[in-house]
Amino acid sequence: MRSLPAAPMTTLADIKKPVAREMREFEAYFNRTLQTDVPFFRIILNYILRRKGKQMRPLLVFLSAKLNGDITESAYVAASHIELLHTATLVHDDVVDDAVERRGLPSINALWNSKIAVLVGDYLLAQGLLISVEKKSYDMLEIVSGAVKEIIKGELLQLQKTRKLNISEEDYFRIITMKTAALISACTACGASAVTDDKAIIARMKLFGEYIGIAFQIKDDLLDYSGNGLTGKKEGNDIKEKKITLPLIHALREAGIIEKRRIIRTIRKKNKGRKDIREVIEFVRRHKGLEYAEAKMREYSDKALQILESYPESETRSALTEFVMFSTLRKK
Ligand code: IPE
Ligand code: IPE
Ligand code: MG
Ligand code: MG
Repeated sequence: MRSLPAAPMTTLADIKKPVAREMREFEAYFNRTLQTDVPFFRIILNYILRRKGKQMRPLLVFLSAKLNGDITESAYVAASHIELLHTATLVHDDVVDDAVERRGLPSINALWNSKIAVLVGDYLLAQGLLISVEKKSYDMLEIVSGAVKEIIKGELLQLQKTRKLNISEEDYFRIITMKTAALISACTACGASAVTDDKAIIARMKLFGEYIGIAFQIKDDLLDYSGNGLTGKKEGNDIKEKKITLPLIHALREAGIIEKRRIIRTIRKKNKGRKDIREVIEFVRRHKGLEYAEAKMREYSDKALQILESYPESETRSALTEFVMFSTLRKK
């Protein structure tokens, strides 16, 4: 089994190098898509633009395109559509999760309210669709719309399972494959599809993205426990929202029945304080939940790396290798 080195850590700026020009052009393009003549909306869209995320998805679109050919305009269309869609799902996700922080600032629902967040998210979704339609990028539209459906199915399944607190490891993997890996695999599939018609290559790249996406979400769930203060999101929010993720699933499986009942009771509490959250975190640590989730994460990042190895060595392949490592070693 391949294992990722723990250090040294590459930065996203290094990973961007093979597609630095494309990422610069993308930025300008993306900013233009968020201009509006409605004054109130302009305030909110500017607020969103001020705090950009890591932009890992557009980066993945360009690197995936370059790995398989010469970057075309459709790669820009896909990158922009996907980043808009991603931004929309985050704005909506913070409503669903009652999250008050995003990217180190108050979330849209916290700063304005949920009604406005729903509408802003819808606006971003529509804007994304328009870009693909205007450029007649129908292949991309099909891939990305398929991903949107998966994301919503994943979010719904998670809500349903959360209410019952009976989530199994199998449920967890179904949920994260839909809510997160679907969009990341759309990035790699769109990147490939922008430069080749070869169905086998597109399918292999899609799978590559799916593996990255699964590892990426396990890492996101681990970061909820890590408390490093860098994520720009409130740590412990998953526990607060009764969201049972892989570290906790494992710990609950390992624990004795009495302890398990006690923890479930704590998780069920409506107004959990810092002490309750800390109790759950301690419980997960004691039962090696974090180690278990890390090992699972590594299984998926290894599978992604294995696919990359079928490509000849190149600067782009190395950047993608680093991308996979960054997804699992990132601190935010
Ligand atoms: C957050 O994604 C949502 C998940 C799928 C976990 P990112 O961590 O890529 O968010 P930004 O765009 O950098 O804020
Ligand atoms: C991430 O959901 C996937 C989507 C946004 C659809 P989470 O709720 O796990 O992500 P964060 O931690 O809020 O970014
Ligand atoms: Mg969520
Ligand atoms: Mg959330």
